[in-house]
Amino acid sequence: MELRRLGMADYDALVELWAEAGLPVKPHGRDALGAISHQLTLPNIAFLGLFDGGVLAGAAVATHDGRKGWVNHLAVRTSHRRQGLGRRLVHACEQWLEAQGIRIFASLVEAGSDASRALFDAMGYVLFEGVTYHTKRLEPGA
Ligand SMILES: CC(C)(COP(=O)(O)OP(=O)(O)OC[C@H]1O[C@@H](n2cnc3c(N)ncnc32)[C@H](O)[C@@H]1OP(=O)(O)O)[C@@H](O)C(=O)NCCC(=O)NCCS
Repeated sequence: MELRRLGMADYDALVELWAEAGLPVKPHGRDALGAISHQLTLPNIAFLGLFDGGVLAGAAVATHDGRKGWVNHLAVRTSHRRQGLGRRLVHACEQWLEAQGIRIFASLVEAGSDASRALFDAMGYVLFEGVTYHTKRLEPGA
């Protein structure tokens, strides 16, 4: 299993993996080809992928704002689950964030995403009860 940073050549495989894993994809917003291409140039974001014989088996996106780091869009292909890939990807995000000077890691987990919640629990993330998530979108599908 090879772990490496993703680039534009991996775009189609990444979007396919997100869809296969049941994650929301915004093809006309932040997941559009041009948007991801721009994000790949930013210093505070890392797209990480795990490859099984050339097949993208899992991926995660680490981001930070200089204060706190985030593990986003964690996805493992259905055929590859419960083999430690999710744990390895979260750990890789943490290592990359730590190398950027970030000492606190966080993730937003949707209600009902029991596997994800169990994984973050298992990795020492503490649930903050009572936190709500508020967003404002400049256009639908952003
Ligand atoms: C969440 C997800 C990434 C986990 O990936 P994974 O590779 O199967 O996870 P791992 O094998 O590394 O599991 C690590 C630990 O997490 C917990 N865990 C993972 N999946 C679990 C499940 N379905 N039920 C209970 N615990 C689970 C276990 O403690 C597990 O350790 P163990 O296998 O030794 O018991 C994967 O299920 C997935 O892609 N789900 C759909 C997308 C998603 O919900 N993404 C998260 C968005 S925030």
